Amino acid sequence: MTGQEARLRYHEREQYQQIETANPTEGDRKSSGRAVGGLKKVVEECPDRLEEKVKGTSLNKNLFLENIKGRGRRKGGIFRNENRDLLRADYIPDELPHREKELDQIVSILSTAMDGGHPSNIFIYGTTGTGKTAVVLNVKRQVEEIEHIMVGQGLRPMRMLYVNCRLHDTKYTLLSNIGNQLSPEGENIPSGWPTERVYRQLLKNIDRTGATLILVLDEVNALVEKSGDEALYLLSRINPDLGRARVTTISITNNPQIWNILNPSVRSTLTPEDVYFESYNAEQLRDILEHRARYTFTEDALGQGVISRCAAIAAQEQGDARIALGLLRTAGEIAERKGADKVRDDHVMQAHKAIETSKTTGVIRGLSFHSKAVVLSIYAHTIKGFRKVSTGEVYDIYCKICGLLGKSPLTQRRVSDLISELDMLGIARSLVISKGRYGRTKEIKLAASIEDVREALIEDEDFGDLLGIEINQMTF
Ligand SMILES: Nc1ncnc2c1ncn2[C@@H]1O[C@H](COP(=O)(O)OP(=O)(O)OP(=O)(O)O)[C@@H](O)[C@H]1O
Ligand SMILES: [Mg+2]
Repeated sequence: MTGQEARLRYHEREQYQQIETANPTEGDRKSSGRAVGGLKKVVEECPDRLEEKVKGTSLNKNLFLENIKGRGRRKGGIFRNENRDLLRADYIPDELPHREKELDQIVSILSTAMDGGHPSNIFIYGTTGTGKTAVVLNVKRQVEEIEHIMVGQGLRPMRMLYVNCRLHDTKYTLLSNIGNQLSPEGENIPSGWPTERVYRQLLKNIDRTGATLILVLDEVNALVEKSGDEALYLLSRINPDLGRARVTTISITNNPQIWNILNPSVRSTLTPEDVYFESYNAEQLRDILEHRARYTFTEDALGQGVISRCAAIAAQEQGDARIALGLLRTAGEIAERKGADKVRDDHVMQAHKAIETSKTTGVIRGLSFHSKAVVLSIYAHTIKGFRKVSTGEVYDIYCKICGLLGKSPLTQRRVSDLISELDMLGIARSLVISKGRYGRTKEIKLAASIEDVREALIEDEDFGDLLGIEINQMTF
């Protein structure tokens, strides 16, 4: 058992023990009305009766009760319950407004296989949330529908296989994942095999299909960034090693720069056709939301301007449809929790705030010790009223923070790199200012909200205690 598994087991055991000790005795059950069967019974009664029962127990406030009361007040509900998941990011809709051109382009490249030809490789790029994965998975669904028709016409069938390279970001895991997707059931490639043997088995598995295999390498940048382009090189040259089958790749990335990182020999063997996904504008996002909301919300559940507001916010965030959908779903959930009869503009604004907060806290939580110390330094300057500071000023306080926590500080140059990373993550903003003949300097300020940064740092075991007293007493 690994250390992490042991900790998990310990944690589960501890929780289990807590549940056991919290279980009431027979006597408690009778007096509190909180025993399992009893709770079920009172829930079946009206919510106000539940409140009466809960009064006088150790619970001051029953959150379930508030929720039930809200539900009771609302007529019809906000969501059509059976369709609630249609707004989830991993749901692939049948219709993808404003992506007809890209869909057509991909289908027409792949259609070469319908005439017995070998389709070109495809390179799909565009910023995040522009529908790249959704469109390709939609094409995959269509390919599945025509497979038997192609076989019926005596053509080599087309088969599409999807791999997310963020999850399989080494040559070994990528090859074995593709191989396993093609293995007959129960005959997975053993995990201890050397790469060479995995590759040979992969060839056999591909050949067994006798198909034109369209291999989708989604988020291919994660593979190249982590392990270089060796796996792509191998896949780009796989066809001469195959007998009956053929492979075409569709590489998808939100970072087109990876194309320039690839070895010229990989580029020349891939020679893909490019399909570019432009970012959505507010109007397009509105259409997308309207389409998806139609089946998700009950009639009239969306107040005036709600969809436009979500679309406008997402348009400012690089035209990301994922953000637009997330906002609408969260706004609906907030309205539902509050027992409102409609989703209103203020619910969207609250959803926006909640999403921003969880984004900031999530990013800060994942930072290294030194990056968090840099964030704390910028935060400390901000609450002291210095809205813009230089790298040197950030560095001074950063060193003091390291001193207080007994860590050796990094060099100022390294801290300057960390500041640039924080800029990319949307936590800090740094602007290079020219000072004429005195050269250039950086002006740094917090990009995330002060409250969100505070919320993220206060729960940190290293930095939480510093936020109160020490930061205020620090000399600037
Ligand atoms: N035209 C569209 N119509 C309906 N839904 C869409 C459309 N475009 C994107 N979406 C939805 O937006 C979300 C994000 O899309 P998708 O995952 O395809 O983005 P992506 O371009 O692959 O982003 P990333 O680069 O981050 O992987 C998904 O839920 C998808 O279904
Ligand atoms: Mg994607």
